[in-house]
Amino acid sequence: MSTEALENLLRENRHFPPTPEFAAAANAKADMYEEADADRLVFWAKQAGELQWESPWTQVLDWSNAPFVRWFDGGKLNVSVNCVDRHVAAGHGNQVAYFFEGEPGDSQTITYAQLLHDVSQAANALEALGVQAGDRVAIYLPMIPEAVVAMLACARIGAVHSVVFGGFSAEALRSRIEDAQAVLVITADGGNRKGKPMLLKQAVDDAVALSPSVRNVLVVRRTGQEVAWTDKDLWWHEQLAEQPKTHEAQAFDAEHPLFILYTSGTTGKPKGILHTTGGYLTQVAFTHKNVFDLKPDTDVYWCTADVGWITGHSYVVFGPLANRATSLIYEGTPDTPHNGRWWELIEKYGVTILYTAPTAIRTFMKWGRAVPDGFDMSSLRLLGSVGEPINPEAWMWYRHVIGGDRCPIVDTWWQTETGAIMISPLPGVTATKPGSAMHALPGIGADVIDDEARPVGKGGGGYLVLTEPWPSMLRGIWGDPERYAETYWSRFANTYFAGDGAKFDDDGAVWLLGRVDDVMNVSGHRISTAEVESALVSHPAVAEAAVVGAADETTGQGIVAFVILRQDVEPDEHIGVALRHHVAKEIGPIARPKQILVVAELPKTRSGKIMRRLLRDIAEHRSIGDVTTLADPMVMHLIGEGLTAAKGAED
Ligand code: WTA
Repeated sequence: MSTEALENLLRENRHFPPTPEFAAAANAKADMYEEADADRLVFWAKQAGELQWESPWTQVLDWSNAPFVRWFDGGKLNVSVNCVDRHVAAGHGNQVAYFFEGEPGDSQTITYAQLLHDVSQAANALEALGVQAGDRVAIYLPMIPEAVVAMLACARIGAVHSVVFGGFSAEALRSRIEDAQAVLVITADGGNRKGKPMLLKQAVDDAVALSPSVRNVLVVRRTGQEVAWTDKDLWWHEQLAEQPKTHEAQAFDAEHPLFILYTSGTTGKPKGILHTTGGYLTQVAFTHKNVFDLKPDTDVYWCTADVGWITGHSYVVFGPLANRATSLIYEGTPDTPHNGRWWELIEKYGVTILYTAPTAIRTFMKWGRAVPDGFDMSSLRLLGSVGEPINPEAWMWYRHVIGGDRCPIVDTWWQTETGAIMISPLPGVTATKPGSAMHALPGIGADVIDDEARPVGKGGGGYLVLTEPWPSMLRGIWGDPERYAETYWSRFANTYFAGDGAKFDDDGAVWLLGRVDDVMNVSGHRISTAEVESALVSHPAVAEAAVVGAADETTGQGIVAFVILRQDVEPDEHIGVALRHHVAKEIGPIARPKQILVVAELPKTRSGKIMRRLLRDIAEHRSIGDVTTLADPMVMHLIGEGLTAAKGAED
């Protein structure tokens, strides 16, 4: 991927300034950079001041205990009040907060007043079940409004939610419940996916049976399918119906934990990324308003991410609600019941802002422009991209076919750890280049440095780092402060190491070049090579496994696994299928390797480290690179032989 991006960079000199009309009406103007540069902390304090605080902070930033940070220390606020109550109090109760469209075609319109009612009842229900401030609640739901209500209800009572993507397996859910010692799980009987009800409850039963910390499971009825019932289970609708329709919210410290979200690191154990209250809400609201140019009275905003990912947290739930947005939530997949479903929804709801991922855009390119051309998408006025580098070709297609050449594109770089967008154009200011995330936002310090921490300057490539603490930064890794300091702050002193390669072009625009560590990016989702390897070796047929991310036209990277079978196992044509199924069961279908290659040996250095670079050469059908550091240079021949033996192992 990085070579391709580098080549693009050499060729790319197109740029697209906003139209004068867009620029004139934009929320963010060019002077915002100067304002933030003049005094960063005053700038962030001003953004925090847009929220409703019950008591003011005494210090904007405390970095004296770096890398542990405190923002807006001493201040108190309630996230749920900021996202819901204050808009109702200001007379916007009848404004739509969410249009919901289920995959089978059912729909709901939820106003801010209705949302307040639902969140209040849910908060009361959680309290009635004994959930207290600081307790952890696991949420394992499809993309339905109850997911938003559950998150806001937790925030309202100071409980810490841990949303687990509904596509993850029972085992992935169990390990996340255990790590956070969750006391409650909120789930559903199932969800709708590709025209069929998918099961969720069964996975919860399997996980909860092994999780003594869980006292209760609240079950939303979504599909109505038969589910097994345990003595911990309670129906969501029954519990809420019994509760008062109002709930007195209490304010929490700015640094009170808001949520944990697990993400893949370079080891097999996912990291519980911890975010807190005041700084997080400040930066997600600021970026949502200025990067997407949100006009609360007229826009219909659609971020297609699932709430199981950080994008769903920050830009489906907290950012849009803090800004009183009207958003669309869609439960299903883009190809159900037909390939034009998204465009049909844009036409139906008059969506004005669309925020999605390059992998989706490349899929639509593959399906052809005739599909979107069949719908009226003239309501769109701004497009966003997130999750992985967007190749210039996909960027141009997005602009031309989806945006009708009139919508600015914001390519937004950020991470679960950063909580909010960090590098992105300002749509009314920046002349964008196809494939570049352009510049650090006002108030954010980013740089590209080399191995010796020297800034590479214009035209140079190296590691992307963040040079200043920012309000929505992660506060740590749940239960593991050392891993936090080690992973992000030890490689370069006082500087956050993002794990991404990047380059400045001659104009100083930032080009992201993909991960520099053993983290793959498949369809915009982070999966570590170590996680997939440990799933593979947990299968009785596998002795050893090495996994690499190989360039893939649609998904960015695809997972390719090299496995050595145990001596007593004869490779047959079913082994590939069996192993792919096994990984899907252990982690979830998103981690299923697209290809399994059975080999006799793996290339290792003398210290025993697997040389993934060489495996990537094979997976990407390149000639094999430098093998001089291999303990046994002959091994690459053996792999070649193994590949012949494994014919038929691909499916
Ligand atoms: C990648 C998703 C290039 C990057 C919000 C980062 C991107 C990882 C972009 C974080 C982008 C995200 N251009 N690469 N616009 N956005 N990435 O934690 O490698 O799921 O480190 O957060 O995705 O993935 P995560």
